[in-house]
Amino acid sequence: MNYWHLLVNIIRLGLAVSLIFLSIRIIFIQLTFQKTLKNKSLVPYLPSRDIFMKKALTLLKLKPSDMFVDIGSGTGKVLFFASRKYGVNSTGIEIRKILYLFSVFYRFFSFNKRKILILNEDYRNVDLLKFNKIYIFGIPSRMPELVKKFEADLKKGTYIASIIFPIKSSELKLKTKTSVLKRFVYLYKKV
Ligand SMILES: C[S@@+](CC[C@H](N)C(=O)[O-])C[C@H]1O[C@@H](n2cnc3c(N)ncnc32)[C@H](O)[C@@H]1O
Repeated sequence: MNYWHLLVNIIRLGLAVSLIFLSIRIIFIQLTFQKTLKNKSLVPYLPSRDIFMKKALTLLKLKPSDMFVDIGSGTGKVLFFASRKYGVNSTGIEIRKILYLFSVFYRFFSFNKRKILILNEDYRNVDLLKFNKIYIFGIPSRMPELVKKFEADLKKGTYIASIIFPIKSSELKLKTKTSVLKRFVYLYKKV
């Protein structure tokens, strides 16, 4: 077999593996949506689109000394990006075991692994006090519960970036609302 055939076979294999991963991901997203309809305590898994994630992280003005958390971190996409781009201390809280395991696997290959912590927990059982920069991609029906947690746990001056869905609380002051693809990214500050 010459080099050309070898290259073609490697590309084919790469495409097949990518297709399998993509299919697993789509099936998994479907399953989490169905489960969410039955179990109202959960938010479905849907990764943030890059454009929303990048805008939210820019608004948060992350610094290496910040304590950043993604509440409901999925497979860790936001964590790894934040850590790589800003060198920030990143924590992910993810309730679903399989997503948590994916993110632990990805963390293994990350350059900044010492600055990345992933917890397989329900965020309601995690004290959020130590975090000063928060990222959230939730759904409207779960927001009131999340807001109560923010009001109880967060120290004054903590920033929260919420993509697509707003937060309503007298203790969380809206600082910026930026339009992205006809939707919004919101930045709040605990006052
Ligand atoms: C819309 S996805 C966002 C994923 C990731 N943050 C992103 O932006 O790419 C919401 C995630 O929250 C997780 N989740 C739902 N309820 C949770 C809870 N009570 N505690 C921790 N994670 C939760 C889901 O499993 C899901 O992965």
